[in-house]
Amino acid sequence: MSRSPSPAEAVHDAERSRQWLAGQAHGAGVDRARLLELGAAMAAVTAAAAEREPVAVAPAPVGVDPGTPIAKPLPAALLRPLDTNAEMRWSAMAGQGYVVPNDRFFVRNHTVTPHLDPTTWRLRLFGDGLRGAPTRDAPVEFGLDDLRRLPAEERPALLECAGNGRRFFAEQQDQPTPGVAWGLGGVGVARWRGVRLGTVLRLAGLRDEAVDVMPEGLDPHYVTGGVDLGPVRRPLPVAKALDDVLLAYEMNGEPLPADHGFPVRVVVPGWIGISSIKWVGPVEVSTTPLFSPWNTQFYRLFGPGHPADGTVLGAQPVKSAFELAWDARVPAGEDVLLHGRSWSGNGPIERVEVDTGDGWRPADLVATDRGGPWQRWTARWRPPAAGRHVLRARATDRTGAGQPDRAAPNDLAYLFDAVVAHPVTAC
Ligand code: MTE
Repeated sequence: MSRSPSPAEAVHDAERSRQWLAGQAHGAGVDRARLLELGAAMAAVTAAAAEREPVAVAPAPVGVDPGTPIAKPLPAALLRPLDTNAEMRWSAMAGQGYVVPNDRFFVRNHTVTPHLDPTTWRLRLFGDGLRGAPTRDAPVEFGLDDLRRLPAEERPALLECAGNGRRFFAEQQDQPTPGVAWGLGGVGVARWRGVRLGTVLRLAGLRDEAVDVMPEGLDPHYVTGGVDLGPVRRPLPVAKALDDVLLAYEMNGEPLPADHGFPVRVVVPGWIGISSIKWVGPVEVSTTPLFSPWNTQFYRLFGPGHPADGTVLGAQPVKSAFELAWDARVPAGEDVLLHGRSWSGNGPIERVEVDTGDGWRPADLVATDRGGPWQRWTARWRPPAAGRHVLRARATDRTGAGQPDRAAPNDLAYLFDAVVAHPVTAC
């Protein structure tokens, strides 16, 4: 089967948006006219307001226990609860290795973590992109054991919420924004183990004519503005699905935890977090382009400088964080080894600089991380005097993209990439 290489996320999304607006795409659940109507309403009211609303939960799919907002404990030292979500505290990464342990990995839930029974759970593939065009009611099915019998792969991949860093639009740029007020902890790297989505698609009878694949979550429908938008879902082009996408059933050597998609989730390396659908169940494979509110409505840039239907949200920009608590205490007059990490959706980090109050200087990169999804670094500092100090870090990725002093604003406050001023107190 000859296919074009896996497209960049922004290129794919732009193409699908054009087709959707031209009426050439379809999506289960919500029709295009309704979505256009919603789009207009959201552009007027600002789509961001939707994120601020209390979550209204529609009934869970038949047979699914709707579960709890977040199943794992949320110790204050590891995680900070934010509505239905929890962000990792960067101080909880001090002394840790390359990956984020499961107990402190951030959670982004549109509604709640469902409790799924692994013995009855099935991956259900359907659509005219598969031979015989199986229907949603009579799909090609795989149980968890079926997936485990297929060749497994394990790889580190970074997941990041597109709104990570949002709170700094308000705190550093005086641009208050609605939406989940993530600090820098809506990100993490884990080692994911599972079967390639491509392997399963081929076994299910993938046709050459298939163009899009849309995994759906089994968590309760997402309801906003009084509208049931259906299950959380987002299309992928077949070329990406056949490239490096995993159906993961293990995270850092353990069965996938409930909050991270048990029993099986999609992991889409390099694409924004919403692509990596948790608690995956149905998967539509289509010969016509697919769309969902999650690539037409949300996860787009709206506001001044953007067209009414928004601009495609491309790769995540460059970010850097210190492995320190906010307002951490450091010993005055003594050598401190500062630790931190930098990452970019455009590819590996090439350079990191740190400013502890007397200008930018290079940080030392951990050699074994070179080329990976994120880069650890260190910098020595002797706080000159007791009192408050501000630490800054900035990185440059392989494409030459760096971190500006101010991030470009947009209504939904995505893609914050500015240097973050991290306060500490020497005493
Ligand atoms: N999948 C489902 N089914 N429901 C969700 O709410 N959230 C998405 C994605 N997959 C989501 C989902 C978003 S926005 C992100 S950033 C990642 O999952 C977060 O994954 P995590 O909670 O394992 O960190």
